[in-house]
Parts: sequence; C-alpha cells; structure tokens
Amino acid sequence: MKIELTNLKLQYQSIKEEIDAAIQRVLTSSEFILGEELRKFEKELADYCGAREAVSVASGTDALVIALADLGIGKGDTVISTPFTFIATAEAIVRVGAKPIFVDVHPRTLNIDPIKIEQCLNRDRQNTKAILPVHLYGQMADMPEIMEIAQKYNLKVVEDAAQAMGAKAEAIGDARCLSFFPAKNLGAYGDGGAIITDNSEVANRAKVLRNHGSVNKYHYSVKGFNSRLDNLQAAILRVKLRHLDEWLKMRQANAAYYNQLLKDSDLILPPSNEQAAFNYYTIRAKNNQRDKLQKALKEGGIATTIYYPLCLHLQEVYKDLGYKQGDFPVAEQAQEEVLSLPMYAELKSEEIEKITGIIKEVI
Ligand SMILES: Cc1ncc(COP(=O)(O)O)c(C=O)c1O
Repeated sequence: MKIELTNLKLQYQSIKEEIDAAIQRVLTSSEFILGEELRKFEKELADYCGAREAVSVASGTDALVIALADLGIGKGDTVISTPFTFIATAEAIVRVGAKPIFVDVHPRTLNIDPIKIEQCLNRDRQNTKAILPVHLYGQMADMPEIMEIAQKYNLKVVEDAAQAMGAKAEAIGDARCLSFFPAKNLGAYGDGGAIITDNSEVANRAKVLRNHGSVNKYHYSVKGFNSRLDNLQAAILRVKLRHLDEWLKMRQANAAYYNQLLKDSDLILPPSNEQAAFNYYTIRAKNNQRDKLQKALKEGGIATTIYYPLCLHLQEVYKDLGYKQGDFPVAEQAQEEVLSLPMYAELKSEEIEKITGIIKEVI
C-alpha cells in the first residue's frame, strides 16, 4: 500500500461530474478571460472568507507581489517577514524592489514571533513599511498581535495565506493572499491565487494592476502585470469551494487522529485546533531522528517531505542580505526537525494507523 503526500486523483473522482460540467460550461461559453464565471467566483470567495472583496490573480506569488505593489511598497522600503517559509514569500518582496528583513519564528507555532517583530522595529525602523506573516502549514500566525504592532508603528500587513485557505482568522490584514496551486486546500488544475481584503480601494487597485494597469480599455494609469485567473480555473474553483468545508473537517479529523496515535511519543505535534486548515500535517523529531523516520516511511511506501530544509536567510540567492548561520536559531532548528506526513481529506484511518505504526517502531 503506497500512500502519497496528497492525492488529487481521489478528490477528482469524488467530484468528477460537477467538475466536468463546469469545464464544459466555460468551453461552451468560450469566454476565457475576465468573464462572468470569474466575477461569480470572486463573489463566492469573498463571501466564504467573510471579507468584502476577493480579487483573483494568476498565482499565489502574484497575489503577494500585487498586494505589496498595491499598498505602495517598493524601492527603498523594507518588509519584515519570516525566514521559515516557501521562497515565494521573500521573492515577492524583492520583486517589488523592497528588501526583506527576517525575524525569528515562535518555537511552538513556527510562525513569525510578534515579540521579535517589535524588538526588530525598536532596534532600527530601517524604512519598514509592512509586515508579511505566513500562516505556515495552515496554522494562523498571531494576527491580533501582529495587527496591534502594525497599528502602533503605522505599517501595512500583507498575509501569506497560501497554505491557510479555510483557516479561521480573528483579524484580517490589509491584504490576505491565497494560492490555488493544485496541492493547496483549495487547489485549481493549474496556477492561481487571490487577494482577499476588506478595503475596496485595495481591491480596485489590484483589479487594475492584474490587468496591465488598465483602467479603461487600452488606457493605462499604472505599470501593471498580466496576472488574471482564467475562467476555466474559476469554474473549477467554484465547484471545489462548495466542498471545502467538508474537506477541511476531514483534514482536521485526520490531524486529530494522527495526534491521538502519536501523543505518547516524544515528537512535537501540531496543535490540533479547529481554527487550523491543515494544508500540511507536520511533526518535529528531535535528536537527528527526522531523517531516520523519513527513510523508514519511504521504505514502507509512504511519501513525506520537508517544508523547509533550508531557511531563506541561508539560501544562496539571499546572500546579499547579509545574514549568517545562527541569526535565527528557532527557524534553523526547525529546518532540521520538521517532517510533513501525508495529509488530504480522503486519507483513511487505516492509512494513518500504518503511518504512525512505522513512526512508533522507529522511535
Ligand atoms: C507559503 C507560500 N507562499 C507562497 C506560495 C506561492 O504560491 P503559488 O505557488 O501559487 O505561486 C506558496 C505555495 O506554493 C506557499 O506555500
């Protein structure tokens, strides 16, 4: 029995008729870019997120880039973010011409530590214009604290919620950025992303930016991007959005079952709360046990992965930022310990039992 990290084939089989009909509808309409389908999806997405506006774009990375540009962040500015995330988070900051400033993560959540954000701001403002927290693995960063700091220091907040579609949030930043990469909680059949906001001005500017900076056809007021979500993906996502709550509940139940079966081990387990969206289920193994665990699971036919094996401040591409080993000890320790196990709605109890059985044997 092989178990994949995620299994999109099973998901497709369970909604095949609805998906095929949605694709057919778009093909028949022959309206592929910025059409009625997209408008409907954006309205449904905003409603789902409990926000005023949703502006879809071509990827989660573009959502971050466009949100930062939209909020006026660019050359000469710095943005405080986490070193323990996917490369796209920092890439977006650099793309708009700004510079990332990393602060360490919280040892329990592995999300950016608000205390360290404030310490960083108190040391030197360094022209900081925004905070960019990441809701890693689907667990929300401490948004109430982050919003309070942002208000105190007059900073914008752009959330990287690529892994957190469906997570319940107490506070929303100026822009919350989603990814519809296929393996995300709400995954397209290709690339896609969206900016969620309560601010209509931010949404209106994002709509202009994603469409070459066009306010009226062939009249351009700002330098924009070609970054639209196409109607085929919008139609697919409208179907999937209707199933999302049910899938999230199944993910949460799977996480709770993993936690129950592993609770007596010395692994650090993710908090099993109802706020989290569990895009990934990530355990932490101490004392060099992680690689042994990964090897044993692989031999048992179980796919795992390491999100992320090297913090961003240690990546060759960001050498020029001047960071060194030891700058962010919590994140650096996490990169040696984390291991993400199979996680998807359709994952069966027997499969979780098999996975945890192998883990218990090793440790
Ligand atoms: C934390 C994080 N940020 C940003 C992205 C970028 O999203 P996309 O692949 O849709 O560009 C991803 C996912 O790939 C991600 O996991």
